[in-house]
Amino acid sequence: MNYETIFKKYKNAGQEHVFKFFDELNKKDQEIFLTQLSQIDIDQVSTLIQQATAHKLTQDTDQLEPLPQDIVDVSHPQWYQNGLQLIAENKVAVILMAGGQGTRLGSQDPKGCYDIGLPSHKSLFQLQAERIQRLQTLASSFYSKNSIIPWYIMTSGPTDIPTRQFFKQHNYFGLSEQNVLFFKQGVLPCFNLQGKFMLEEKGKLAVAPDGNGGIYNALHREGVIKSLKERGILYSHCYCVDNSLAKVADPIFIGYCASRHTDVGIKVVAKNNPEEPVGVVARRNGKYGVVEYSEISDELANMRSNLDGSLAYGAANIANHFFSTDFLERVPSFANQLEYHVAHKKIPFIDASTGDRVFPKEPNGIKLERFVFDVFSHSEAFSVLHVDRADEFAPLKNGSGAGVDCPETSRTAILNQAQRFITMAGGHYQDQSIEVEISPLLSYGGENLEKLNGKFIKKSCILNSLDDVYSQ
Ligand code: UTP
Repeated sequence: MNYETIFKKYKNAGQEHVFKFFDELNKKDQEIFLTQLSQIDIDQVSTLIQQATAHKLTQDTDQLEPLPQDIVDVSHPQWYQNGLQLIAENKVAVILMAGGQGTRLGSQDPKGCYDIGLPSHKSLFQLQAERIQRLQTLASSFYSKNSIIPWYIMTSGPTDIPTRQFFKQHNYFGLSEQNVLFFKQGVLPCFNLQGKFMLEEKGKLAVAPDGNGGIYNALHREGVIKSLKERGILYSHCYCVDNSLAKVADPIFIGYCASRHTDVGIKVVAKNNPEEPVGVVARRNGKYGVVEYSEISDELANMRSNLDGSLAYGAANIANHFFSTDFLERVPSFANQLEYHVAHKKIPFIDASTGDRVFPKEPNGIKLERFVFDVFSHSEAFSVLHVDRADEFAPLKNGSGAGVDCPETSRTAILNQAQRFITMAGGHYQDQSIEVEISPLLSYGGENLEKLNGKFIKKSCILNSLDDVYSQ
């Protein structure tokens, strides 16, 4: 598309102000800017802006109901075996959502590169890679097959290059390069409260990733669905990069969902208290979905079940999902019914009157996002698995020292889990100051530690193999 065509499109959409500084740009920057502008579906974005500025995206009239108790299951040993078998048959993939900008954490690097301060200093990406590798080993040896769990990693504009580089630098953490596949989510232009696009630079629109729900478009556009089908993958485990305890490709969850012919599955934990700022799984207008913390009234948040006195809206979402490939393939058939969520943010911009860059102190613009759970209402066979928070959920959201959902809480969660695994195996710590980190390559979920029965661990260590204890 040439300048005239693009200008006309933007003028028709009332966004021609983005060309204000065009003549000041050199030839190369003009071309880069025109390429960016031409890649935006301006008609679609204009409709979204109209909806957002008219506040049509709010959901005040929604009818909420708690999750029926009979839809929630708790772990059963048979599911582990079912899941491991599906992994052994190469029918399971892992999809990671790692496109977020991690603004609260405040690190320059993608969140997955973060070192939460474990004795080994492994990054979140490394922990997750090693869990995958361990499961491949377990499935391969149990079923005498060469099991592969392909790992599809969703990045975004800001995280794509550094994420790829990090994996390359670390040799894919021992996984095979051809089974670690990156794909990039889309972006949407940011706009001010009057619905006008904002310039990040004189020749660059301010854009932001389209939320973790951008995953569905990206899966199709970037050829992931095709790849899943070519590899014969039936089920995927989809999770967020920032859960330090993420049980990647959890065989129990896979086995559970598959045995119920689930198309969309979700793990939940008990909400800690009515005020905890987490989304809960519930029914909205008769369909399953996640109700965000901000969408639920105090009265509903405090409501208790008549059966056992637990919170009626107490099934907290930990962003661990199961999808059948069939379901993922079906998403485009209803994608245009999915709404965008409005997020008011502080967006740096070029002031049109002065040409200067402004860093606002208050939210001055809007980002539009979709959430991964927006599709749940279209599920035809929805399953919910109740899991133990201590073993499954330690989110890394905030910077060091925040006291909640921060590197320190993630580190503690992993080391406490190791202690539980060792105790379950019959081992003991000589004293309470001891810290043991168990490499995921040695044990995925507490297995393989039986030889620690009766053993006293005398000093802090990283357990890469049981020899590390015998040699103490
Ligand atoms: P959050 O909503 O917590 O965002 O993402 P974030 O980027 O990690 O952190 P803040 O809000 O800027 O501080 C939850 C998960 O969804 C992914 C993130 O990478 C994280 O795994 N995500 C988020 C995406 O993949 N894409 C997005 O556009 C947004």
